[in-house]
Amino acid sequence: MQIIRTIKKMQSVSRQLAAEGKTIGLVPTMGFLHDGHLSLIKRAKKASDVVVTSIFVNPTQFAPHEDLDKYPRDEKGDIQKIAQAGGDIAFIPTADEMYPDDFQTHVEVAEKTLTLEGKIRPGHFRGVTTVVAKLFNIVRPDVAVFGMKDYQQAMVLKQMVNDLDYPIKMIIAPTKREKDGLAMSSRNKYFSSEQRPQAVCLYKALILAKNSKIKDVREIDSLMRDEILHICPSAVIDYIAFTDLETLKPVEKISPDTVCSLAVSVYAVRLIDNMKLK
Ligand code: PAJ
Repeated sequence: MQIIRTIKKMQSVSRQLAAEGKTIGLVPTMGFLHDGHLSLIKRAKKASDVVVTSIFVNPTQFAPHEDLDKYPRDEKGDIQKIAQAGGDIAFIPTADEMYPDDFQTHVEVAEKTLTLEGKIRPGHFRGVTTVVAKLFNIVRPDVAVFGMKDYQQAMVLKQMVNDLDYPIKMIIAPTKREKDGLAMSSRNKYFSSEQRPQAVCLYKALILAKNSKIKDVREIDSLMRDEILHICPSAVIDYIAFTDLETLKPVEKISPDTVCSLAVSVYAVRLIDNMKLK
């Protein structure tokens, strides 16, 4: 597997691959890879000739009080995992390479970033869309794979691709879960062994909502809150939202296009998850 650290080199390799008629799949990540990330690499492999996995802990999507400094890193392990998953190239730029001192351009999606995560983390999606736009321009992929785990992120990036006419096929891959249902996340490693079982409360609440015959979202919301606090009495629920899959607009009644998403802090670790309800 090839490791590339500079933008110039990545751009020239991509140009070469395109000249050879090879299609490129891109899987952007912030590293500390788990099986969820690796499932995206495998998905990209099915849809393209050469898969580029980027590892970049993007500073512009973290607010000053968030966990940028303690965000887990394991470059060596990541490189091994990418190779094992069938990845061809790891693109690992430094923050200085991506954001030189005079950097001053940003990409911002308007409406879809104002709800859910965007409401609670102002500026977060501006950081995400800017770095992904840069990665698209550097790697020039034909296909890009993102996880449904970050549902709003996936929809915001789809909007960006449509609005800015990127000739890229967007694939949104399903969420990989631990045995008990907890969505895989780099942040799961923050839990002690006593705390970890309670992190399943998001998944359990989503399953309760999915299995419920109730159509009114307020009633389901209340059932879900009870379930979360029953499993983890100290949980802090940021939001539980019922939205249309594509538009992210809130809905009153459950339909086949309704996604329930939620953000809950479990022992000060902020977790997000979501599920299509029908
Ligand atoms: P990161 O959190 O590292 O996630 C990288 C990709 O893996 C995202 O598309 C995310 O949705 C997906 N992913 C995470 N957990 C998953 C799981 N359990 N199952 C399936 N896919 C999963 O998301 C980011 O990084 C960044 O915001 C990024 C897009 C790289 C921009 O900096």
